[in-house]
Amino acid sequence: MNKIKKIAVIGGGTMGNGIVHLFAQNGFDVTLVETKKEFADRAIATIDKNLERMLSKEKITKEDKDSALGRITTSLDLNNTVKKIDLMIEAVPEIFELKKSIFSDADKYAPDHTIFASNTSSISITKLAAQTNRPERFIGMHFFNPVPVMKLVEVINGLKTSSEVTDAIMTLSEKLGKVPVSANDSPGFVSNRVLMPMINEAIFTVYEGVATAEAVDQVMKLGMAHPMGPLRLADFIGLDVCLDILNVLYDGFKDPKYRPCPLLVKMVDAGKLGDKTGEGFFNYSK
Ligand code: CAA
Repeated sequence: MNKIKKIAVIGGGTMGNGIVHLFAQNGFDVTLVETKKEFADRAIATIDKNLERMLSKEKITKEDKDSALGRITTSLDLNNTVKKIDLMIEAVPEIFELKKSIFSDADKYAPDHTIFASNTSSISITKLAAQTNRPERFIGMHFFNPVPVMKLVEVINGLKTSSEVTDAIMTLSEKLGKVPVSANDSPGFVSNRVLMPMINEAIFTVYEGVATAEAVDQVMKLGMAHPMGPLRLADFIGLDVCLDILNVLYDGFKDPKYRPCPLLVKMVDAGKLGDKTGEGFFNYSK
């Protein structure tokens, strides 16, 4: 359990490339698995840019940057890659069927000792674990964006996760310079069960004409010392992701207090998803 050395990260999007960056910077050999070469190349370019940002701020040296990049390999072949690893971290979009097919495929090829982790922000770890023959070696490892900066790893135990696996992932997170916090599987875990109702309520205040988006964010930044207001943060996370998570909370608890604000639903329908589309509650046109 303490010999987690070789890692594969599945998916090179915002979270996936951040997780690859983090492991490589902390001395681990890590393989990024993507479905197309252009996606893998884009992820490596982002990691390069973020390492360069750290170098320019003298947080790391040129050698640190070069050796981190040297520890990263890319692959388009999930099944072959997982034959040689100790830990697989899945960071693909929040679509249950997609995650299910990745975990059930990888389960056939990965060695018995390999731990499977999901970076899901809200899908049940217990349900994902049940798609494999290793539910005791399955865990949630929930990172926060931007991954190289945010200190938290929310470590989520599925119903069958063994305490040895939890301990190993807590220790590993500390080796990555993070602060792990353990929670049991439940809709939204701790982070999104607390965060998303706040974001949703901020959207309702705009929807009801109580205040503008700018005013809501100013209140939370200047009055509560949040680094970003809830609406700026919603744009940063992605309004589609926020809506998906609220729906998981709503369906999971069957409690109307989690109902997504109609304005959020309308913005997602209109394709206003926040930073990634250039428009959300605020404008990000270049
Ligand atoms: N890689 C490496 N370094 C990065 C980085 C990245 N991707 N992004 C930012 N940084 C560094 C910057 O270089 C800068 O470093 P210095 O302190 O040495 O100057 C530092 O982070 C702060 O960045 P900036 O100066 O550019 O900007 P800022 O001070 O406004 O901070 C922020 C940006 C860190 C994003 C800050 O606004 C913040 O903490 N926001 C809240 C983020 C948050 O809540 N994230 C969680 C979202 S929820 C989630 O991810 C999970 C989920 O399930 C929905």
